[in-house]
Amino acid sequence: MGASAKAWADFETAARAAEGRRIAGLFEAEPDRLAKLTVEAAGLYLDLSKQPWSLADLEVALDLVRDAQVETARDAQLAGQPINRSEGRAALHAALRAPAGAGFSADGRPVSAEVEATRAAMRAFVETVRSGERKGAAGRPFKAVVHIGIGGSDLGPRLVWEALRPLSAPIELRFAANVDPAELAFALDGLDPAETLVVAVSKTFTTQETLSNAEAARAWLRGALGPAADAHLIAVTAAPDKARAFGVPDAQVFGFWDWVGGRYSVWSAVSLSCAIALGFDVFEQMLSGGAAMDAHFRQAPLQANAPVLLALAHVFNRNGLGRPMRAVIPYAHRLRLLPSWLQQLEMESNGKRVDAQGRSVARATAASVFGEVGSTSQHAFFQLLHQGTDVIPLDILAVRHAREGDPAAQQKLLANAIAQAEALMVGRSEADVRAELEAAGLSAERIAELAPQRTFPGDRPSSFILIDAVTPQTLGALLALYEHKTFVEGVLWGINSFDQWGVELGKTLANRVLADLAGGSGAHDPSTAALVGKVRGL
Ligand code: F6P
Repeated sequence: MGASAKAWADFETAARAAEGRRIAGLFEAEPDRLAKLTVEAAGLYLDLSKQPWSLADLEVALDLVRDAQVETARDAQLAGQPINRSEGRAALHAALRAPAGAGFSADGRPVSAEVEATRAAMRAFVETVRSGERKGAAGRPFKAVVHIGIGGSDLGPRLVWEALRPLSAPIELRFAANVDPAELAFALDGLDPAETLVVAVSKTFTTQETLSNAEAARAWLRGALGPAADAHLIAVTAAPDKARAFGVPDAQVFGFWDWVGGRYSVWSAVSLSCAIALGFDVFEQMLSGGAAMDAHFRQAPLQANAPVLLALAHVFNRNGLGRPMRAVIPYAHRLRLLPSWLQQLEMESNGKRVDAQGRSVARATAASVFGEVGSTSQHAFFQLLHQGTDVIPLDILAVRHAREGDPAAQQKLLANAIAQAEALMVGRSEADVRAELEAAGLSAERIAELAPQRTFPGDRPSSFILIDAVTPQTLGALLALYEHKTFVEGVLWGINSFDQWGVELGKTLANRVLADLAGGSGAHDPSTAALVGKVRGL
């Protein structure tokens, strides 16, 4: 149902009082600010003290959480109730990362045994591939995996691979998501079909892009190896009948379930290709990191609950202060794909304009998320973050210990991350700038012109996440943190975070346009009809 109008009104009143108040000033007024607005969970240190809220505002924000019954909703989710009402399903990705014997049920049906059986089958498969025991059609071991999938069947595994890949991997992993033939061409380029496994991943096994790429990859395999090449094609899906109809033998199909949302599926066999390339133990360690965050989310009191606090910081900016965007900046090359994964997680989950009962929402829902790796992005778009006309809150992520490379360079990277958060909050006053320009002997006219341009308003909020090192465990914890944060926001807003009807219309029209590009004559608006005509060369 979301939080009540009264709780929202109190929250919005509190937030309005934050307008024009200096964040930095709150540290003097609130001696325990840092202690109350930092939390450590599952190997992550979260600092929300550079957000615009006061400690009194935090209390009002926590009342919003109580009013919306977030804890009850959390328990309903973890109990496997069909909280995805529009599709009549549970959203039970937490069951995928739970330790053996956890005993989860989806919609009253026990699921943990199936989850564990699939995990065991994955392990057995992964180990035979990695040991070289499993061989391709030409009798050679596999040295490369091409992962084909899109959206939730791509972004998580791609992020996991980039985050955890060794410098030189015995098994190379490549990805192809887009139906753009260039992407598959690059993914296959230089690979030997005799030593390549193709893993086609699609929850529905109906997705145009994935089926098109899987067909092309199969043709590439068969072109070199003949029909025996089909032993190189693996499917991961919640629709095994469709994979079978596509021609993948049952023994080469790994399943997951309709109660796993696509964008929450990185914990399932969707990550089979990562498990092959990284080793099954690494995959299991990632699951354990996710499970550690689940335990924290389940047990920590609201005022020290990392997903709850991270969600509230976002909602304070979004609903309290009307900020429609958020930047996510990982200061870690290994986490550079986090913004892309988060875009789907947050914008597909919570980019909704009606609530779970079908009524128009009374207030803004998900912000637009964008981001890039730091420090690179400092030299691209940070100008706007510091001095643009919109205030864009940030999530800044940094890692204490690099997995590789020069530790001194890592210190520079950390310094940049910490300094940017400070600079964004503290800013630089015009008086300060003027004094500096006067000391440098500039004329009064020149100072009048330059000083405003060199002033930093500050009060640009950020949440800071410090990670000890990018390990499978901390990565798992980080992804689960953001999943739960997204869920909490959805509960506050009263929306269903687990469906995505907004992607359907484009898919339908793309099929219609495709038919028209091939000579059909569907009805379109004049602009669309002209574009179709131009492509056809009419
Ligand atoms: O188009 C959106 C979407 O349905 C996502 O929610 C999903 O992650 C993606 O497409 C891929 O779907 P599938 O795994 O069924 O191919």
